[in-house]
Amino acid sequence: MSAFKELVFSGVQPTGNLHLGNYLGAIKRFVEMQARDAQCLYCVVDMHAITLWQDPAALKGQIREVTAAFLAAGIDPKRSIVFNQSQVPQHAELAWIFNCVARLGWLNRMTQFKDKAGKDRENASVGLYAYPVLMAADILAYRATHVPVGEDQKQHLELTRDIAQKFNNDFSDSIAAHGHDAGDGFFPVTEPLIGGPAARVMSLRDGTKKMSKSDASDNSRINLTDDADAIAAKVRKAKTDPDALPSEVAGLSGRPEADNLVGIFAALKDVSREDVLRDYGGAQFSAFKGALVELAVETLAPLGAEMKRLVADPAEIDAVLADGAERAEAIAAPTLDAVKDIVGFVRRTRLHAVR
Ligand code: TYM
Repeated sequence: MSAFKELVFSGVQPTGNLHLGNYLGAIKRFVEMQARDAQCLYCVVDMHAITLWQDPAALKGQIREVTAAFLAAGIDPKRSIVFNQSQVPQHAELAWIFNCVARLGWLNRMTQFKDKAGKDRENASVGLYAYPVLMAADILAYRATHVPVGEDQKQHLELTRDIAQKFNNDFSDSIAAHGHDAGDGFFPVTEPLIGGPAARVMSLRDGTKKMSKSDASDNSRINLTDDADAIAAKVRKAKTDPDALPSEVAGLSGRPEADNLVGIFAALKDVSREDVLRDYGGAQFSAFKGALVELAVETLAPLGAEMKRLVADPAEIDAVLADGAERAEAIAAPTLDAVKDIVGFVRRTRLHAVR
């Protein structure tokens, strides 16, 4: 298989309003992973997006916009594999098999389903309920070992580990009979990579709420397509408390807005909260926000401009996605063949070599 030591997989939903949390918690870290001895796959998860209603007239544009964000942030589509989920049918196929491995009780515990379904749970789509199972399929179709995500995905990654372990366990005899290592199991137990100062970026209007695409207030988030003026205005309006910044990280506890702005600053600058407070401990928010505006604009304005340039050429983006889908399928297809053998399906022998 691949000559790389690690296989990294992660995904972003094309549901519009990509924001600073998506960038600092995920996309920026995807770029950093390219420096490791790893094959990286970065997926625009359009099948996840439709678990909530998406306007068909807008969805293609949203898919291309996330792809543009990947590229503008520095993901190299030659080194990494960039594609959209629906172009690689193995995701849906494996998700079905995993639907028969995962237990209802496991899914009933998923907090994100409860949040997204809201009060009217009876009216939520079955897809929204099964969302984390498709996520496990995304990861395990490539037998990925490392998954960089924001903190809000922790529970979903634990479920992925549970599904991998139950599959390895339920089918251990068959796995061995088909010549796979029964000791290690067929699927790896994936390592979630959650961390850094921006694993959970909070709303600029309320430091106790996650920065989110679906917040009604546009001032709660910095969108990746915001221009310099919008970024500056949102940072200046961000909620703070009346005290100066503390000189130690411990002094941020109980001050969610201060903690959030310091975390954002640290992540943008690639330093720790400690480093930021060494420089700004004792400073008033007015001064700190000035420095944050400068840093945020310096990083994000060129990113937004590059995204706009890239989406203006959809054919170029579609070519990246098509090339990525072919390379992704070349990894996922043999996994699915093996899974079908392990489960006991009669599989169509290939009359023609896989393209
Ligand atoms: P999505 O599109 O909701 O989020 C994409 C990534 O952004 C991170 N994120 C944040 N990080 C820090 N602070 C925030 N406020 C914030 N908001 C979002 C998310 O944690 C995520 O890493 N279910 C996934 C998509 C997915 C996936 C996968 C991820 C589908 N299949 C397989 C990894 C592996 C999601 O929520 O995307």
